[in-house]
Amino acid sequence: MKQIFSGIFSGNGKLFTKNLVPGKRVYGEKLFSEKGKEFREWVPWRSKLAAGIKNGLKEVPIKQGSTVLYLGSSEGTTASHVSDVIGKDGVLFGVDLSERVMRKFIGVCEDRENFVPILADANMPKDHGEHLEGHQVDLLFQDISQKNQAGIFNKNAKLFLPKGKPGLIAIKAKSISQGNPEKVFKKEIAELEKEFRVKQVVSLKPFEKDHVIVLCEKK
Ligand SMILES: C[S@@+](CC[C@H](N)C(=O)[O-])C[C@H]1O[C@@H](n2cnc3c(N)ncnc32)[C@H](O)[C@@H]1O
Repeated sequence: MKQIFSGIFSGNGKLFTKNLVPGKRVYGEKLFSEKGKEFREWVPWRSKLAAGIKNGLKEVPIKQGSTVLYLGSSEGTTASHVSDVIGKDGVLFGVDLSERVMRKFIGVCEDRENFVPILADANMPKDHGEHLEGHQVDLLFQDISQKNQAGIFNKNAKLFLPKGKPGLIAIKAKSISQGNPEKVFKKEIAELEKEFRVKQVVSLKPFEKDHVIVLCEKK
């Protein structure tokens, strides 16, 4: 097994992170031990960040101790792998609007002390701002199926992401319009460019249809 990014490993064509909570699965993923360490398989069919890595994302800007603001944390599938990477010294603020998924996320939080669950609308960033007081965000991550995906990301970046810090956003074209996905991506990327320098756009095919993940840096 080879480390390809900080805390992210690859072997036999599969991705893994070192399990922060040995013995515990989050979404039915396989566990695997090597040299006394336990790893969790990170499944690209279940996680857009893993799909982006498989498809050639050139940076995954997190490491041990990072503070991550994660918009659309859902039940914690991807967030749990980010939690493995940032480790006990990191913090992941997971924002989600749905009480149903938040209940599951809180279940995962019981095992993962680096998770802070926030039930809030990411479109109203001032509401979750109080939770972030005293923290500097190292990465803004978003995976939200709404019409104004870039708009939500920009609003949060304006308030919480320092200049020069990275952002990663998964964009789902069909949540924005039923039109040509390439045109939708172009428009969303133009919107992102108001706040960010776009560094890479990676298609998530075949893992997700009509999705890209965009790596960018706050201007
Ligand atoms: C595609 S799922 C995210 C999956 C997750 N990133 C993962 O890989 O494990 C999108 C999530 O965004 C949440 N969501 C949609 N609109 C939102 C909003 N305005 N604010 C916060 N969360 C929102 C939904 O409740 C849902 O859980």
